[in-house]
Amino acid sequence: MKRLAPLALAAALVPLAAWGNAGDAANPPLAMTGVPDPAQARIDYMLKCQGCHRPDGTGDMASTPPLKGMVARFLQVEGGREFVGRVPGVAMTDLGDRRLAQLLNWTLHRFDARHVPAGFRPYTEAEIGALRRDPLRLDRAPTRARLIARMRDD
Ligand code: HEC
Repeated sequence: MKRLAPLALAAALVPLAAWGNAGDAANPPLAMTGVPDPAQARIDYMLKCQGCHRPDGTGDMASTPPLKGMVARFLQVEGGREFVGRVPGVAMTDLGDRRLAQLLNWTLHRFDARHVPAGFRPYTEAEIGALRRDPLRLDRAPTRARLIARMRDD
């Protein structure tokens, strides 16, 4: 049995290596501007976000909105970029500014690449640091509704 151990270990590492690269046909890592370490971003999403937003970003339509096919649409409307950095789930998460900026950029690319605007400027550590110091509170629901009303339909 002992002889098999290295083989078993190698077999266990193959999927991990692929996972570390964090790319697949739909989400090539090279397209992820502002995400120097996609594997780290993915782990951060698993630990800090998916409990509410679900692993596939679909949310639940009752208490947590979907990120999938939706989140980057906020970048199309004035005030949307700031909103995304100030919602409590983002602003109050237990990650430093650098990791949070990367996680937010990853979230946009991973769940809504289609709506990421051409020439998208990735969130930076400094921008997120400033936004999260002013988190939205009860005003977030009307703010969100106003932004959604201004979104294009496509
Ligand atoms: C406790 C549940 C919860 C957690 C954890 C959470 N969120 Fe959210 N998220 C929400 C809710 C609810 C909203 C809708 C706005 C609001 O009421 O705060 C939201 C809104 C958002 C939005 C704005 C899009 C929209 O449709 O309103 C983004 C982007 C977002 N979350 C990303 C994240 C990321 C990234 C993480 C992990 C760092 C995260 N969230 C963690 C519940 C959560």
